Amino acid sequence: MNFELTTEQQLVKQMVREFAVNEVKPIAAEVDETEKFPMENVKKMGALGMMGIPFSKENGGAGGDVLSYIIAVEELSKVCATTGVILSAHTSLCASLINENGTPEQKAKYLVPLAKGEKLGAFGLTEPGAGTDASGQQTTAVLEGDHYVLNGSKIFITNGGVADVFCIFAMTDKSKGNHGISAFIVEKDFPGFSIGKVENKMGIRGSSTTELIMQDCIVPKENLIGQEGKGFKIAMKTLDGGRIGIAAQALGIAEGALEEAVNYIKERKQFGRSLAKFQGLQWMVAEMATEIEAAKNLVYQAACLKQDGKNYTVAAAKAKLFAANTAMSVTTKCVQLFGGYGYTKEYPVERMMRDAKITEIYEGTSEVQKMVIAGSLLR
Ligand code: CAA
Repeated sequence: MNFELTTEQQLVKQMVREFAVNEVKPIAAEVDETEKFPMENVKKMGALGMMGIPFSKENGGAGGDVLSYIIAVEELSKVCATTGVILSAHTSLCASLINENGTPEQKAKYLVPLAKGEKLGAFGLTEPGAGTDASGQQTTAVLEGDHYVLNGSKIFITNGGVADVFCIFAMTDKSKGNHGISAFIVEKDFPGFSIGKVENKMGIRGSSTTELIMQDCIVPKENLIGQEGKGFKIAMKTLDGGRIGIAAQALGIAEGALEEAVNYIKERKQFGRSLAKFQGLQWMVAEMATEIEAAKNLVYQAACLKQDGKNYTVAAAKAKLFAANTAMSVTTKCVQLFGGYGYTKEYPVERMMRDAKITEIYEGTSEVQKMVIAGSLLR
């Protein structure tokens, strides 16, 4: 596979890089410290066309490809993983779900404003009793005339407190197990919908992670996505795409940390010479650069498979597993390279290490990725 970027991909990379360095990096520490959702930057990203990169122009998007979008998540995550996941959850989990499964009417009503960045999206699958075991949904949806009535709650929802549009999963027929799960588009202002607990997190602290509560929530019949009972497959397929986004976030975090560490060890002197002259540290840097390159190849490969319409389930799982591992291992080593300073908030590497951890957990833990990979070999 050839990962030489096309002119268009290079332009996206340059545009996002400039935005990341000029607008995102300067407030990244404050966003982390204060848990302040960076709404102004998200609005600016919308104006720059970043909230709909892989969607067609008639659907409000930029008409770009999957790799361009993945590069955008990577570039943002190099300086601020919070901003990276806001874009990833919005694009991969909400807008893509509607793009790939919605009717023309649903696309016109919901995808267009999402892709233009006028509205923000989220994805509600996880429940207190349905985390890794996503098919154990307890939220119910009952058809009553021209609308469904949803009852239940979702937890750990990225963009939860700030999104306008939610793709929500609920049981329309409990007796059918995962074949009884259906997907719905829910607006934040629908009667009976509210935001519950707001999580106080270790990392990605500026992103909004909340509970969603549906209490006799009225959802118009036409907001069912696909057919009744197809929700679990829609969720799994959507998560395959989401995992490439999180893999790109993990890759960006690792690259950002290495960049900081390389600059630091060239400047910092101990025993009369710069740290970069010590072979032990050179070896650490060489290993990290190699791990990052390998992660990048897996992430870009999964993005290209999705773009080409090929099966990317296992490639996405491998990319997320490896990139998340890399993000944890690289950020931990980078904190070590900074010594005592690395443990303080004077430098961004401690934040990057905290941010890296979530990439091993959300959108399927590393153990889930191994289940998917092993399942493909042992089935
Ligand atoms: N694409 C399409 N269909 C799929 C699929 C895929 N990738 N994976 C499974 N399916 C289908 C199967 O073909 C099967 O269909 P049939 O019943 O018709 O045969 C059905 O789904 C059930 O498959 P499994 O028996 O393999 O499913 P399972 O219940 O054993 O679960 C699992 C497998 C991999 C553990 C899955 O439940 C899973 O991925 N769990 C993790 C959930 C997850 O990632 N949650 C993250 C939520 S979002 C988030 O983190 C937050 C955020 O906002 C950023």
